[in-house]
Amino acid sequence: MGIESSCDDTAAAIVKDGKMLANIVAGQDVHKKWGGVVPELASRAHQQNIVPVVDAAIKKAGINKKDISAVAFTSGPGLLGSLLVGSSFAKGFALAQNIPLIEVNHMQGHILAHFIDGPFPKFPFLCLTVSGGHTQIVLVKNHFEMQVIGETIDDAAGEAFDKAAKIIGLPYPGGPLVDKLAQTGDKHKFKFPQPQIQNFDFSFSGIKTAFLYFVNEQVKKNPDFIEQNKNDLCASLQHTIVSFLMDKLLKAAKHHNIKEITIAGGVSANLGLRGAIEGLKTQGYNIYIPKFEYCTDNAAMIAITGYYKFLKKDFTDQKAVVRARFEI
Ligand code: KG4
Ligand code: ZN
Repeated sequence: MGIESSCDDTAAAIVKDGKMLANIVAGQDVHKKWGGVVPELASRAHQQNIVPVVDAAIKKAGINKKDISAVAFTSGPGLLGSLLVGSSFAKGFALAQNIPLIEVNHMQGHILAHFIDGPFPKFPFLCLTVSGGHTQIVLVKNHFEMQVIGETIDDAAGEAFDKAAKIIGLPYPGGPLVDKLAQTGDKHKFKFPQPQIQNFDFSFSGIKTAFLYFVNEQVKKNPDFIEQNKNDLCASLQHTIVSFLMDKLLKAAKHHNIKEITIAGGVSANLGLRGAIEGLKTQGYNIYIPKFEYCTDNAAMIAITGYYKFLKKDFTDQKAVVRARFEI
């Protein structure tokens, strides 16, 4: 069984011999009115949700809790209060059932989500990991050996989507809404500067600031500017972010001479990014894109990582501590 509670989704999943039997996620609407995740409220919601979510996963899998041979939990990175709920539950469950406890790095989980359904990427591969808290290019040598070769120096890609969405009045989390509105917008209508950053690193705060200044300027001249141009604004912003991500990913792939390319994390649900990655096939790359439910936070990715760790007998104990920051 895998348990995920690092941010604002309470999730539980059951995997058997590498096959997913159940994958249950409870989101938290309580944050919408605050325009972002409120850690204190997230912890409380996790506490309310954790037992019903685990119950639902066990029922969906058609098993008995006595059938569970190990429990894996996200031990970081994430919000401490949220992580504590999932880890404490997992510890209690392991103790009660007398089964091994496995700790999982959330970012490693996002990457290993590629091993839930085949075809699996071949090692070594590159993974562009784009979420609300992270933006990384990871060189994945095997299930456990991963090297971050590029990352954001400020905001994450998901944060850029969410912050820009907020500027034009979209509710949190804005990423999926920007994606939706961008479908019918003109991506070339507005131009925002591409950040100039060394190596394979990223920066998104400049895009957000340029977007903010541009929108404010236009609204001064025409108070209805946002309403009249919402879809074009979303399409142009998305195009800027996706082009930047693709640029760096291709640069890294060429430098490391790797043809196996994957994406992971919440922003990998973005249709613009999925389309751009898909386009790499014509350049001889092998592309692996996770199913939507395995892009955003879920426990299936924690369960599958737990499964591989279980095979290695890589267990932790009741003294395990969660961490806000946790490098892969
Ligand atoms: O991986 P995730 O579920 O949680 C973290 O670990 O952060 O990622 C959440 C992020 C949010 O910023 C959300 O706006 C973004 O992923 N996101 C999207 C889309 N779906 C989720 N961004 C752009 N387009 C989407 N379709
Ligand atoms: Zn995540």
